[in-house]
Amino acid sequence: MPLPDEFLQELKLRTDIADVISSYVNLKRVGRNLVGLCPFHSEKTPSFSVSPENGFFHCFGCGVGGDVITFIKRIENLDYIDAVKLLASRAGLEIPTDTQSKGLSELRKRIFEANREAARFFHKALYSQDGVHALSYLRGRALSEATIKHFGLGYSPPSRFALVNYLRAKGFKDSELVSANLAFTTRSGHTMDRFFDRVMFPIIDVRGNVIAFGGRIMSDEKPKYLNTSDTPVFKKSSNLFALNFAKNVGENMLILCEGYMDVIALHQAGFQNAIATLGTSLTTEQAMIIKRYCDTVAICYDADEAGQKATSRAIGILRPTGIDIRIITVPSGKDPDEFIRSYGEQGPVRFRKLLESSGNDVRYQIQKVRKKYDTQIPEQRISFLNECARLLAELNSDIDADVYAGELAEELSVSKSSIKNEIEKYRKRSFRKESKERIRNIQLKTSAANDRINPEKHRNLRAANAEEAIIAILINNPDLADTIMSRISADSFVTSFNKRVFSVLLERVKEMRSVSPMDISEAFTADEMSSITSILSSRPRENNPKRAIQEYIDILLEEKEKISPEKAASASDEEMLEYFKKLRERKK
Ligand code: UTP
Ligand code: MN
Repeated sequence: MPLPDEFLQELKLRTDIADVISSYVNLKRVGRNLVGLCPFHSEKTPSFSVSPENGFFHCFGCGVGGDVITFIKRIENLDYIDAVKLLASRAGLEIPTDTQSKGLSELRKRIFEANREAARFFHKALYSQDGVHALSYLRGRALSEATIKHFGLGYSPPSRFALVNYLRAKGFKDSELVSANLAFTTRSGHTMDRFFDRVMFPIIDVRGNVIAFGGRIMSDEKPKYLNTSDTPVFKKSSNLFALNFAKNVGENMLILCEGYMDVIALHQAGFQNAIATLGTSLTTEQAMIIKRYCDTVAICYDADEAGQKATSRAIGILRPTGIDIRIITVPSGKDPDEFIRSYGEQGPVRFRKLLESSGNDVRYQIQKVRKKYDTQIPEQRISFLNECARLLAELNSDIDADVYAGELAEELSVSKSSIKNEIEKYRKRSFRKESKERIRNIQLKTSAANDRINPEKHRNLRAANAEEAIIAILINNPDLADTIMSRISADSFVTSFNKRVFSVLLERVKEMRSVSPMDISEAFTADEMSSITSILSSRPRENNPKRAIQEYIDILLEEKEKISPEKAASASDEEMLEYFKKLRERKK
């Protein structure tokens, strides 16, 4: 059920896209637009641009774009209605109530409910006869009763139908359980539990919904952990384990770990600001979320080689957000959980010491490079300095680079200016590389060959370009709507995606005499909105839109008439008659 127009218009008036996006991305004004680092892909130079005037954002690097609602949909992983709700509460508006319940996607609601019931079921099972060994497993890993309760840990019984039967009896449909990824359909068509005979870790979002599970096997079998795949309520790349607790502890720092058990052990030891990714390496989206909740992140990955590699990677992802990064080094090849446990009662104090002695990311990286060289040997000293210069060239802040250059200069008795010259060289080199990359990206984006959203475009390039020009003119010059409508209708469009965009736009223009991306957001997915905004941002505004529109309409009509043989084959008799009639008229 669509939201009432007055409500949307009020929301539009009270919502400033620049303001909203600024709470997620550092934006700088450049001319009429604001630019910053794209939160949807990893980049070091800004290609993400917000146009307050036109009410949309667009990334020239990854092609993502849309209105403010689409932005919230993407960054918060919400559906349309929930994104509107978030913006409404931000703007101090009440969302009309009957739309609230009906609009909230029914399936998402059912999945939340199924997950909640499942979490209860698993938790109870842990304390049943079935769960005896699971409970003793958790106790064996030094978890207290309070910790088990706090995290709502559970056990999935070994019968392959325990949860499915339980939830069916509660009124859930098999299809809902499969959508929730709590169950799957076997080849013989049965619905079977996805998790069985595992210790269960519920994953809870910051609003308190159970969105997914991780399940650990209690033997050495593989996979060690099984996680919920992405579902309509869960995207593993944009959620963090235990953030629901960590966000409330009022620390301006989050501790980022690799594993569920590390986080749980840390919380039990009093570090309730610990969080972890969900079985994947850190993503840009997660980095943005972390940045939203604190100013410092302490990376506390495993001490093994894989953990150290992951640390370097995480630094690269976190740094562009501008957050302060510290690295906690856990000694003797342990992970944080093992470290704390190995000290028994002293665990918390020991970990506190590690945390206090943690260095920042730059010193960590320099230290890692230092280990590779013997700086007593001149050649190696040079290589060491070169590698450090390359590291420092990546820093956002000149002051930071200056400080470390100074430290290195002193340590190795070389002049600071020579180190700084080296840094400058690397900067120039990477700038050239990045701008080449940007150009290639844009070329990729504008080549129609693999346009997923408008797959007909590459076969109808000329028509599609004219269509897009018409769409852009209609948005930028709604006063030309009558002129446009007097010559063409949606049926004059060749590609079906553009046709749909045009008819939705026209509908809105007829109602309101003007239209912005936000007015059509409900009718399109986030990816479709990206395509629409790239139509808008890839072409300059027409100097003479009145004349331009006539030209584009001419082109479109001309293209429309050239019915391709394959189209002719599927054309109706009426369409063919119409076509021949037009041909005859043209010949006259
Ligand atoms: P670890 O193997 O370090 O897990 O993987 P851990 O948390 O220390 O587990 P314990 O102590 O052996 O019980 C780190 C994280 O990687 C993901 C999980 O999120 C895990 O917590 N992972 C690991 C998987 O998703 N699947 C796997 O098979 C293994
Ligand atoms: Mn572990």
